[in-house]
Amino acid sequence: DDSQLQLYFDTVLELTRNAGKIVREHHNKGKKVTIKSCDVDLVTETDQQVEKLLVTSLLTKFPGHKYIGEEAVADGKPCELTDEPTWIIDPVDGTMNFVHGYPNFCISVALWIKKKPSIGIIYNPILELMFTAQTGKGAFLNGNRISTSSVKDLEKGLLAMEFGTSRDPEKMAVVMENTQILLPLLHGIRSSGSAALNMAMVAMGGADCYFEFGIHVWDIAAGVPLIQEAGGFVSDPAGGELDPLSRRVLVASNEEFAKKIIPHLKQHYPERD
Ligand code: IPD
Repeated sequence: DDSQLQLYFDTVLELTRNAGKIVREHHNKGKKVTIKSCDVDLVTETDQQVEKLLVTSLLTKFPGHKYIGEEAVADGKPCELTDEPTWIIDPVDGTMNFVHGYPNFCISVALWIKKKPSIGIIYNPILELMFTAQTGKGAFLNGNRISTSSVKDLEKGLLAMEFGTSRDPEKMAVVMENTQILLPLLHGIRSSGSAALNMAMVAMGGADCYFEFGIHVWDIAAGVPLIQEAGGFVSDPAGGELDPLSRRVLVASNEEFAKKIIPHLKQHYPERD
């Protein structure tokens, strides 16, 4: 019920702020970096420490709940989204930025229930940007209500796009092709290294669209309710319903903008989460 959901929200908000302190302490300091799927897919001790803090605290408070954590999956935990309340955690989204001290990274935590988003928190502890959403209750930045832009024409649109953390030649070719197709049609393209913060930018009207092939469920799980509560549009990049485990996402300020950009996209279908 509503008071239970509010308890989940208040709990995760406080935990995320505390996790932010850990990230802040390690920002601009030497880091032990390990590579994951390839040379540019990175993890640091901070990622692991933050995920552990969030998972341990949430499951102690809410013992029946499940979780999906980026680093747990990297260690072999199956990535399963069931009907049970599931916390979906990216301890540091934008790890490459974190490693370099480029202050565009965040903690992304979501709660999904019955495979639908219920809570989304995206927190950049360096720039102090706390994005929050609860389904049915609006989207907020540092407590102030946010909404997506009203831009409906491609030529007035600012697109967020990522080069991604894969060196698969086919995937890289798709990114290059899309850049080439889209740049002349738009106001501009930005690539700032965090899927979750790209979604937050669309939610607050700072960008009009973001799409990516190859993201994981933890990169987008908090952004989905944030976009929806900000009045934006979420779908699969080919236009169908979003499948959160498909490693494909598109968000836009509104459906009209999405419908205009989708026909131009060269598609890519990565292996599922
Ligand atoms: C990555 C970032 C990056 C995006 C990748 C993600 P991580 O997440 O969001 O911007 O291009 O697809 O995997 O590895 O830093 O949590």
